[in-house]
Order: sequence, then C-alpha cells, then structure tokens
Amino acid sequence: MPSESADTTKRAEWSRYGFVLAAIGSAVGLGNIWRFPYVVGENGGGAFLVPYIVSFFCFGIPLMVLEFTVGRGFRGSVVTAFGRLHPRLRHLGLLPFVMTLVVFSYYSVIAGWTLAYIIFSVTGYMDFETFTSSPLPRVTFFATILLAGAVVKVDLKAGIERANRYLMPVLGVALLIMLVQALTLPGVQAGLAYYLTPDLSALSDPAIWVQAAGQVFFSLSIGFGVLLTYGSYLSDSASIPRSAAVIAGVDFLVALVAGFIIFPIVFSFGFDPVSGPQLAFITLPQIFSTMAFGSFFGTIFFILLFVGAISSILSMVEGGVATMVDEWAWPREKATIFICTLAALIGLPSALSYAGYDLILFGAPFLDNVDLLFGTLLVPVSASMICLAFSWLWKPESLLTEVNKNSRFKFSRTAVYYLRYIVPLLLLVTLASTVVRTFL
Ligand code: PHE
Repeated sequence: MPSESADTTKRAEWSRYGFVLAAIGSAVGLGNIWRFPYVVGENGGGAFLVPYIVSFFCFGIPLMVLEFTVGRGFRGSVVTAFGRLHPRLRHLGLLPFVMTLVVFSYYSVIAGWTLAYIIFSVTGYMDFETFTSSPLPRVTFFATILLAGAVVKVDLKAGIERANRYLMPVLGVALLIMLVQALTLPGVQAGLAYYLTPDLSALSDPAIWVQAAGQVFFSLSIGFGVLLTYGSYLSDSASIPRSAAVIAGVDFLVALVAGFIIFPIVFSFGFDPVSGPQLAFITLPQIFSTMAFGSFFGTIFFILLFVGAISSILSMVEGGVATMVDEWAWPREKATIFICTLAALIGLPSALSYAGYDLILFGAPFLDNVDLLFGTLLVPVSASMICLAFSWLWKPESLLTEVNKNSRFKFSRTAVYYLRYIVPLLLLVTLASTVVRTFL
C-alpha cells in the first residue's frame, strides 16, 4: 500500500522544471520527428491526424497522468510500484521492464544512424546500404549507448536533469531553424495541402486507427514504465495534471511541426512523400546533397534527430536502472553498466540486421520484428496491465488524493471509472485490431 512507500531513505527529486524537461525529453524523440511524418504519409496524409488526436485525448493523456501518479504515489520503479500495490503482482512489472530494455537496444541502433548522418552531412552522404553494411553503424550504436550510460550513471539531477537542460533548448532551436527553412521553400503549399487535407474516406479503414493508437503510445512513452519511474522522483509540490498537459502538448506540437518540416521539403524537391522509414535516411540525404546550404541544414536536421533520440534513451536507461536500484539496492553506477551492457548485447542482432547479414525473421529485418513485438504489440498489453491494476486495486481516494495534490484542476471519481472500464476496453479493441491487422 502506498503508506508503505513512505521514504526511509531520501529519494532523489527533480528540481522545479527538471521533471517537465526530462519528461519532454523522453516523449519527444524519433517517434515524433522520424516516425510520425512517415506514418502520416503512409496513412492518407491529413486524415491520420483525426484518429491521432482522438487516441491522444482518449487514452494518451489519461495514461500519462496515471503513470506519473502511480510513480509519485509508490515512489519506485515499475516493478517496485506493482510490488507495493500487491506483493503478488511484482512480476507484472517485468513486462514493461523487458520491453523498455529491448526498445532501448534497437532504438539505439537508429539513434546511432542519426549520429553517423550528422557527420555525413559535413563529409558527404554515404549510400544507406553501403553505410549499413560497413562497421560504422556498430560503432555509432555502441557510442550512443556509452554516451547515455555516462549520463545516467552520474545521478538523477546532475545526470539526466542536467543533460536535458542542455538538450531541450538545442532541440527547440534546431526545430525552429528547420521549420523556417522548410516554410520558405517553393513546395510549401503542395506539402501542407497533402499533410493537412484529410482524406476522410481513409477513416473507415480500422488500420489507420490502430496505427494512430500505436503511434500515440510510442510517442508519449506510455506503457513502458519510464513515465512512472520519472514520476517517482516528482516532488509533492508539483501539479501532475498541469505537467502532463505541458509535456503532452509539447510532444504533439513537435510531431506536428516535424510534418511541417518534412512535407514542404519532400514536395519542393519532387520526391514521394510515401517513402516509409527510409524517408530520413535515403530521401532527405538526397535532397540535402542538392539543396542550397544543404550541408548546414542536413547537419541541423540530424542533430535534431539525435538529440531527440538520446534524451528518450536516457529515460529508457533510467527505467532499467531504477528497477535494479529500487529492487536490489544496486549502486546506480553498477546498475547503469549492467543495463547498458545488456542492451548492447540484445541490440546486436538489430544492429546487424540491416548490415547485409540477412538477419531476416518472418520476412522482415530483425530490427523491424523486435519493433513490432516490443514497440507495438506488447504496448497496449502492458498499458492495460498498469491501468487495470492501479485503477482497481489502489484505493480510489488514494489515487485521487495523489493526482490532485497541488493541482488547481481536480479529478473526480469519474476519472477512476474511466480508467477502470473505458480505457481497458479501448485498449482491448486496439490490441485485437492490431493482432488481426498484423497476422491475418
Ligand atoms: N517516446 C519516444 C519517441 O517518441 C520513444 C520512447 C519509447 C521513449 C519508450 C521511452 C520509452 O521517440
């Protein structure tokens, strides 16, 4: 019960803006800047924004608020929080723990690509296939993990919080530069028309709703327990509803702006907007190599991607590290080394799957398969677990007291019923449709 969670030893706490910055860092990442625009492109352009916004409000924000509340209420990582809710449930926390570890492993592979592409923007782009079959991606993969580990091992405030204080402004400036550049290109109108005109007939296809739901989860880092972990360092004086509104709002805005950047560029240079994941690594480099000041804008663009990615990775590492620290009282440094080494090993097949080694599983590269399983299919499962367990077994009064602490906006019991019945139902529908769509 939460009363047990009263700290015996003092738990680290974010400073005033540290939490919001770090949580924005976790949410904003490759999911917003790289994945969002191509998913929009593949799902009928502007029409996609409708289910995206619906999912965002119906379960994105509620689940984010819940994770923060549970984290602060139980003062522990996701495994610890489940254990304190009910000792028998401790093991449920292992699912988000493992998911985060796996996502950390392959996400670092892609983050590593963006790191290499920062350099290529200056030296000239290597063809994507030549690049992935060279040893270079493995080098940048390990470098990314090493960098994240070096930050997380320090301590919460001097490590993650401080890094985000530098990284988030860089992200903001890079985003702004790219936006201004894109909006002055000749293809703005065509790009934005494509991006924002909803092809409403696409909405009758359930696939687009499933995609949108998955995208909301991934983008807001929901269901991985990392928000819960970040919430466990939240001071009692912070308002959870307000923080969540700011964090989700920024996350949404960045995804939206990423589209304002990508589509004008793609249309101005006559490329196909439906080019899928390779949009960032094949299409855009082709454009940057011909456009005026392309080397400058390419550098800024890939810095944007890398900064977004590394700040998300910090939260993934912390999710694992906090579990080892809270559950087994490991020193932070040892836990960080352990988690990072594990991710480096687990990520190796992903790192090699695009490297001409033909690591193909079920007809797709290994990386795509682990993304499908751990970054897509299991997410609604884990999110439902968190939602069901804490809305049913945690006393509604305790939940409401925790979420309403120092908040001007007060949730009522309806919120608890919403979490108990409506959200799980929506998640079940999402999961069922995802399974049907993927396997049938
Ligand atoms: N939200 C991050 C993004 O949009 C990804 C992420 C997933 C971060 C899971 C933490 C945990 O890129």
